[in-house]
Amino acid sequence: MMHHILLLLFLTGSTYGWLPLEQWGSGNVTGIVGEYGQCICNIFLPDTTFPADRLDIVQITSNKLTAEVEVHINKVTYIKAQLVILLSELTNLTTRVEILESGSDKYIKLEFDLLRVELREFESLVTYLKTSLNSSSPIFDSLYHEIRNMSLTIDLLESYDKSNLEVIRLEFIKLQKKLEKCRDEQDDFSNAPIGTCKHGGILKLSKPVVGQLNADLSGSFLYGGWGKDSSPLPGYEDMYWYSAFSNTLMSRIRVYSDFYKLIMRQPTKTHELYTNRDWRGLGNNYIVHGNTFYYQFRQPFSMGKFNMTSQTAEYRVVPSASNRFSYQYSDNQNLDFAADENGLWVTYATEVAKGRLVLGKIDEAAFALAEVWETSIFKQSVTNAFMICGVLYATRSIDAQTEEIFYTYNTRTRKDSYISIQFEKFQDFYVNLDYNPRDQKLYMFNNGYYVSYNVKFKST
Ligand SMILES: *[C@@H]1O[C@H](CO)[C@@H](O)[C@H](O)[C@H]1NC(C)=O
Ligand SMILES: *[C@@H]1O[C@H](CO)[C@@H](O)[C@H](O)[C@H]1NC(C)=O
Ligand SMILES: *[C@@H]1O[C@H](CO)[C@@H](O)[C@H](O)[C@H]1NC(C)=O
Ligand SMILES: *[C@@H]1O[C@H](CO)[C@@H](O)[C@H](O)[C@H]1NC(C)=O
Ligand SMILES: *[C@@H]1O[C@H](CO)[C@@H](O)[C@H](O)[C@H]1NC(C)=O
Repeated sequence: MMHHILLLLFLTGSTYGWLPLEQWGSGNVTGIVGEYGQCICNIFLPDTTFPADRLDIVQITSNKLTAEVEVHINKVTYIKAQLVILLSELTNLTTRVEILESGSDKYIKLEFDLLRVELREFESLVTYLKTSLNSSSPIFDSLYHEIRNMSLTIDLLESYDKSNLEVIRLEFIKLQKKLEKCRDEQDDFSNAPIGTCKHGGILKLSKPVVGQLNADLSGSFLYGGWGKDSSPLPGYEDMYWYSAFSNTLMSRIRVYSDFYKLIMRQPTKTHELYTNRDWRGLGNNYIVHGNTFYYQFRQPFSMGKFNMTSQTAEYRVVPSASNRFSYQYSDNQNLDFAADENGLWVTYATEVAKGRLVLGKIDEAAFALAEVWETSIFKQSVTNAFMICGVLYATRSIDAQTEEIFYTYNTRTRKDSYISIQFEKFQDFYVNLDYNPRDQKLYMFNNGYYVSYNVKFKST
């Protein structure tokens, strides 16, 4: 029996649609660039507990993969730059044809020959791009063919008169449109600068970016979370955290110096919350913020924080928070922590609000609620919630493949709204979904897998 582990790295989220399919791989690891520009790697590992001798092989292959992905990212960056150059050259050519059309006939022949030479150069650039990409993308292919065709057409033109120029000009404009489309697709997931809130909220989410099965390599470890520190201390910017168990009782969190170490399952530190004292948590809607782990404390039921710097825990009972209302997918999800551009938040339900979702802003220094807002949705009908720029987003299930952001509550205006932003799940069940303001991504613990999404915001 083999585990099928998907290692899917989204190429800076910027290559939607047109990046060609390309095979690369070695041994038992294969990879392709998928339909939406994501890098898909398939790693086949034995099903049993991880044997040490295989680890080396996987590590070496994985090293290679990381390098390959790096090469791809560089390639994409390079191609984006090349596209911009191509576009400006084409614009230049188009303008020159226009000037030619309005000019006097005696210069036409000379200019025409010059144009032909430049078009050849243009063609060789595109040819180079095409081969360096090993292209099989439909858009790129048609672009390539059209440029080639145009060179041929110009060669075939016997007379250099203005009607021919008009044909060429129109062809150039067609090409220009195509190149612009290519360039715009590159920018599909670029956003307002990180840390700012100069946007109009979520427009859409990318396809799920599937990292890997959890670091315990256990298909039964469904109750957990992963992500990055939303307010890292200096030197911890690349750190990832992970925690998961086969039930909702939580007793450990691991941290990794970077993504590679996470994938290689080499923690920098494992923090045990259950030794001679009991700092265990329940549920799995925890996050890391300022090198501190915020989670639902088990006994007493309260909000807990485990400071990974001082390695001590504290808790605060949240006035009127109830442990009777969990999210739809799993039990014991009573306190859900979130962090955004504005700081730290916690959501829960109360008996007074009859199970409706209540949102609290946490004063980090006092570790207490500074302000609370009551929403109009029932916590048990919600599958998860997260915060972006002081706005709460709540999700619900549509079907096994589809989830929907269906509700928002803006803490600034105190207004809520029902919306519909559907997104694809990698697998049906998930328990932890949080936004990270440091990279504008959503992190999901999806049926034991590390999954993330790029968020595209509406512009204002
Ligand atoms: C894949 O792994 C198996 C088991 O280790 C090995 O026998 C086989 O040769 C590998 N295949 C390739 C293509 O490396
Ligand atoms: C086209 O580019 C050339 C050289 O790069 C430049 O000298 C010329 O002014 C440009 N023409 C137009 C119309 O932009
Ligand atoms: C393109 O693919 C061919 C075989 O499919 C391979 O030999 C070649 O090295 C690839 N080129 C690049 C630049 O990746
Ligand atoms: C190439 O040009 C010819 C004539 O200009 C046209 O009939 C043909 O459809 C073109 N082919 C492509 C692939 O654009
Ligand atoms: C964590 O502990 C360190 C060292 O005692 C302290 O400087 C820091 O303020 C604490 N952080 C939080 C969020 O309590």
